[in-house]
Amino acid sequence: MSDWKKDNLRFLLNKLGGYPDNFQILDLGVGKDPFSEATVRFKNVVKMDILPYDAVNLVGDFNKGIPFKNNHFDCVLVNNVLEHCSTPPQLLREINRVLKPGGVLIGTVPFIIQIHQEPHDYFRYTEYCLRNLFKDAGFKDCSINNLGHSLSIYNNFQGLFFWKLLNSPLNIFEKTLIKIIWKGQRILIKLMGKIYQKCLQDDILVQGYGFVVEK
Ligand SMILES: C[S@@+](CC[C@H](N)C(=O)[O-])C[C@H]1O[C@@H](n2cnc3c(N)ncnc32)[C@H](O)[C@@H]1O
Repeated sequence: MSDWKKDNLRFLLNKLGGYPDNFQILDLGVGKDPFSEATVRFKNVVKMDILPYDAVNLVGDFNKGIPFKNNHFDCVLVNNVLEHCSTPPQLLREINRVLKPGGVLIGTVPFIIQIHQEPHDYFRYTEYCLRNLFKDAGFKDCSINNLGHSLSIYNNFQGLFFWKLLNSPLNIFEKTLIKIIWKGQRILIKLMGKIYQKCLQDDILVQGYGFVVEK
């Protein structure tokens, strides 16, 4: 699991931890359900996606509406989904509609991360944009946490860089050299990680955000 996914899982376990097992949850854009550990104890989880992955129990396009009545769910999850929605204000209003009063929207969005799921990758949001979107969709309170930091961003991009090199038409000598350099980089990152803990407070980079928004 990548650093980003580990941070997502930690955030979700923490935020869902206090809710009762009979909470009605809608997991929108659940995909392959990588954070199932955070929802497994809940009895009523609708897992919706436009693609019929194994974990999905409702196949549907959220751009065409969420097929539930008003005030139905205690919680809607949108993990790594808002960047793939071409009309986020419309989706957020629809989520607000299906949430009970006092219900919560919980989710994550990446910020400094590679383009993925092309061509359906439309946005990167700042914290301030998210706050405006939630407010305009009719939500009351929102709390937003930074997820990831300079070192996880560095780690992610160096991994992508070396992976790209190793999958390029290089000769065996060049590939062996790249593998040795990559291994050295990984050791360096491990060492830097220990030192880096001291600098986390003043970090200027964020890999993405986790949010809890109340209707
Ligand atoms: C980046 S993946 C995130 C999957 C999972 N939630 C996670 O955090 O790893 C985005 C998911 O949203 C789904 N998705 C994209 N557009 C959708 C739509 N219009 N309706 C329903 N699901 C959609 C995709 O099929 C994909 O599984």
